[in-house]
Amino acid sequence: MKILAIAGSPRPKGNTNFLVDQALDEAAKLGAETEKIVLAQYKVNPCLGHDDCASFASCAQKDDAGWILDKLYEADGVILASPVYYYNVSAQMKAFMDRNFFPYNKSRQAKARVVGIIIVAEAEGIEDTLHTLHQFIDSVFSIGKSQRLVVSGYAGRAGEAAKDAKLVTEVRSLGQKIVASLKKELSD
Ligand SMILES: Cc1cc2nc3c(=O)[nH]c(=O)nc-3n(C[C@H](O)[C@H](O)[C@H](O)COP(=O)(O)O)c2cc1C
Repeated sequence: MKILAIAGSPRPKGNTNFLVDQALDEAAKLGAETEKIVLAQYKVNPCLGHDDCASFASCAQKDDAGWILDKLYEADGVILASPVYYYNVSAQMKAFMDRNFFPYNKSRQAKARVVGIIIVAEAEGIEDTLHTLHQFIDSVFSIGKSQRLVVSGYAGRAGEAAKDAKLVTEVRSLGQKIVASLKKELSD
């Protein structure tokens, strides 16, 4: 069972990365194979919007998006995590989301049966960010709302999320619930 987290914060020791690590730690303890991809560590260009995906066998842009997308589409469980930047996902996450236009044009659907969402804001914008991620999940995955687990919280400076015991418990529980849900899927 493979769980892939896509982390949209450029702060390596920031709140989003911390919370993702907590969730993956719980998932790993329950036997899942886990991986975190921090988008800022790779080259994921914005979509060029030429709208000609159909005439290419693979996306015309040769950066890291292709192999990251392959992992996203093949994972059993996925976590999408982003800080709130100007009332929405970070630019890194948005660029990655837009690059799904190629597999979308090839009618590819991601395999994961459960998706976790982690959002961190300093003060406001969680609802709009959550709406964006739900719309993205609607387009990429064949899952309903009941197969999505959401944890969001408030933290500003790096390290603040770690001091929020309730948030840490919630996100660790998200990791456990993803594994439990995938185990149930496999046994049904
Ligand atoms: C460019 C930028 C835009 C931000 N916009 C918002 C915002 O709209 N609403 C908000 O509550 N916090 C905003 N923040 C604060 C971050 O969401 C907050 O610091 C969060 O903890 C960052 O997560 P990280 O530590 O994982 O990078 C912004 C921060 C930056 C750098």
